[in-house]
Amino acid sequence: MKLFDVYPLYNVTPVKAEGCYVWDDKNEKYLDLYGGHGVISIGHTNPYYKETIEKQLSNIAFYSNAIQNPLQQELSDKLGELSGCGEEYELFLCSTGAEANENAIKVASFYNKKSRVIAFQNGFHGRTSAAVSVTDNKKIIAPVNAHNPVTILPLNDIEAVTAEIEKGDVTAVIVEPIQGVGGLDEPTTEFLQAVRKITQENNVCLILDEVQSGYGRSGKFFAHQLHDVKADIIPMAKGMGNGFPIGGVLIAKHIESWYGMLGTTFGGSHLACAAGIAVLDVIKKDKLIENVQEINAYFKEQVKSLKGVKQVKGQGLMLGLEFDFEVGELRKKLIYDEKIFTGGAMNKNLLRILPPLNVTKQDIDVFITALKKLL
Ligand SMILES: Cc1ncc(COP(=O)(O)O)c(C=O)c1O
Repeated sequence: MKLFDVYPLYNVTPVKAEGCYVWDDKNEKYLDLYGGHGVISIGHTNPYYKETIEKQLSNIAFYSNAIQNPLQQELSDKLGELSGCGEEYELFLCSTGAEANENAIKVASFYNKKSRVIAFQNGFHGRTSAAVSVTDNKKIIAPVNAHNPVTILPLNDIEAVTAEIEKGDVTAVIVEPIQGVGGLDEPTTEFLQAVRKITQENNVCLILDEVQSGYGRSGKFFAHQLHDVKADIIPMAKGMGNGFPIGGVLIAKHIESWYGMLGTTFGGSHLACAAGIAVLDVIKKDKLIENVQEINAYFKEQVKSLKGVKQVKGQGLMLGLEFDFEVGELRKKLIYDEKIFTGGAMNKNLLRILPPLNVTKQDIDVFITALKKLL
């Protein structure tokens, strides 16, 4: 049976990985500065992560959300502690970023009983119904999803946000603290704080989509913590399981839960929790957030010696190198000739760097040397 053909593929077949490196079926070694699209947080096949999952697999991998599963509470406690959100939020577990956003939008709408969502140009929030309808890409919105009431506004335009909220029918404002797929643009601190104020005054929920920017990638546990703002709802996923599918939604305590409000078969399974717990343990034990800050500073310093780089965008290890030409060919050369994985964005001049959070200065040197050769 043929696979439904929706992904254009590079001609590389990874079969093995360790830390920040991946090997293909010809035993060629690649430097991974893409992290499988920002997913690999603690590094590939981390020994403690493997051991924790393997142990869980031999005990019990899955049951359902109708029984006691103390691993969910352990994950929640560790996440609350490391993120600093433990006192003010509660956790709902699911399996993907889109599902996290889908649930975030539902929670907002259940809470204030309104339905229109404000989202932003170049935003990406996933491909389920509500999530895709707040994504600024007409090509991926099917007619069945196009009826959700959504208004897409320019990022950082507080007058436009205020004017829409004053109409009285807005349930939530959803924004990425750092735009991923769109190309590393960021809301300013001033904008986020103004949005927080106007949403609070009008009983509108602020959803800060940390699916990609969360879990230490920005140099803080959550990227919005760079701006001293607090969300009502924080969806997250990618780095949470280091490749195991797990997502979550942090929901502020003033939003009350009720039985049946949300639900999922797979979310919060024993195996997913084991992966999630191992990730949090390693981020803490190996001081990976400190490493993100250190490597960010080193990366920015090294990039100065490159010609043709217009600017470095993003925060922490969620970075974009903007050139004054389209980078498609450069990405191909990096993969096929230099054996380095990088990412692309909707902004075709942007090379995205999303490495595992334990990447080293030596790894960055390998990348800089390769770029110098190619530019
Ligand atoms: C900010 C953001 N939100 C949501 C998603 C969707 O996540 P998933 O692909 O796990 O559904 C992504 C995926 O790239 C993302 O970057």
